[in-house]
Amino acid sequence: MSSQGNGLPEDKSWPELELPELLTSNGTVRALHAAIETDWDSLRRSGCQTAAGRASWKHIIHDPVAGLLAGETYLRSIFEKIKKDRLNNAREISGVILAVRTLWIDSKLEAALDSFDGAGAQVVLLGAGMDARAYRLSCLRESSVFEVDFPEVLQAKTAILEAAVGGIDEQKQPILKAKSLSRVAADLTEDDWLQKLQISGFEPKKRTVWILEGILYYLSHCQAIKLLTIIAEKCQLTHTVLLADFMNKQATKLSSSTFHFHCDWPDELLPSLGFSDVTLSQIGDPDANFGLMEDPLNLFNKLRSLPRSIQTHPDDGTPCGRLYLLQASGSPNQTDS
Ligand SMILES: C[S@@+](CC[C@H](N)C(=O)[O-])C[C@H]1O[C@@H](n2cnc3c(N)ncnc32)[C@H](O)[C@@H]1O
Repeated sequence: MSSQGNGLPEDKSWPELELPELLTSNGTVRALHAAIETDWDSLRRSGCQTAAGRASWKHIIHDPVAGLLAGETYLRSIFEKIKKDRLNNAREISGVILAVRTLWIDSKLEAALDSFDGAGAQVVLLGAGMDARAYRLSCLRESSVFEVDFPEVLQAKTAILEAAVGGIDEQKQPILKAKSLSRVAADLTEDDWLQKLQISGFEPKKRTVWILEGILYYLSHCQAIKLLTIIAEKCQLTHTVLLADFMNKQATKLSSSTFHFHCDWPDELLPSLGFSDVTLSQIGDPDANFGLMEDPLNLFNKLRSLPRSIQTHPDDGTPCGRLYLLQASGSPNQTDS
């Protein structure tokens, strides 16, 4: 469906909240989501929140299982926020950053896989949460996909998706689009995650796209740098592409108890770790717009017009919180030269 410049569908009506039938009818799914709400910490629950964001932008992002994986509470919450934004004629509708980030990663992933002339590649999602790219992107048909997250997150995800198979509505059943999918239960702050990935079939010498979407800023500075260094080292073995989002310092201040790692200049950090080709995009840039940011007074367009070194907005003194989208790559030939 096409949209107006701010993400609204052309008929100006936001799609209504439609709870996936299994969220109410299936006892296993209901129990799993009840356990997520009571037993999980906010870090683990953040995956459901992100899925709810994708579900609420379903006129832009086709994710057949986002609502099911998000659960009723998060779905209701984001639809409520969107309703308020629309009543207030907000220039930025809740979830728009998530929509742009999702589409940006989808498009860069497809281009990276296209550039790997023919040979099947690996795609590793670190902090995969309730991501459903393996079920929604046909560009993954030749790729082995690996989802890494905490054990309880991946167990719940698998159980919810299994409950959907054999459900009443065949149209809405998750069908794997990737060549294969492996779920790797690991804590990315521990030393053994790479070993666990390899035990699950990851081949270090096979071309790989690494997706770090909504994960780095939950880590400490040391943990994030260690993670990025491990990925950068893979450039010496094979063609390696990294797609990741970074918060600047001001963005992490929005919740200093939740967000930790920040980087104001990731386009300087990544080459220093061993990546060769690094490009940085900001939300609203020509390649990170998708027709959702036409209003020049939109917060993101205002931010883009300011030098990145500026920390507070000259007009109103508000902090310039930014989310950077980074593509970095490297390969043995480039590393040698
Ligand atoms: C904001 S969600 C993003 C999920 C997914 N990438 C997406 O965009 O939909 C962050 C995810 O990172 C996972 N995560 C955070 N810290 C982690 C760690 N130390 N090890 C493994 N996973 C972690 C959380 O469990 C959660 O699923």
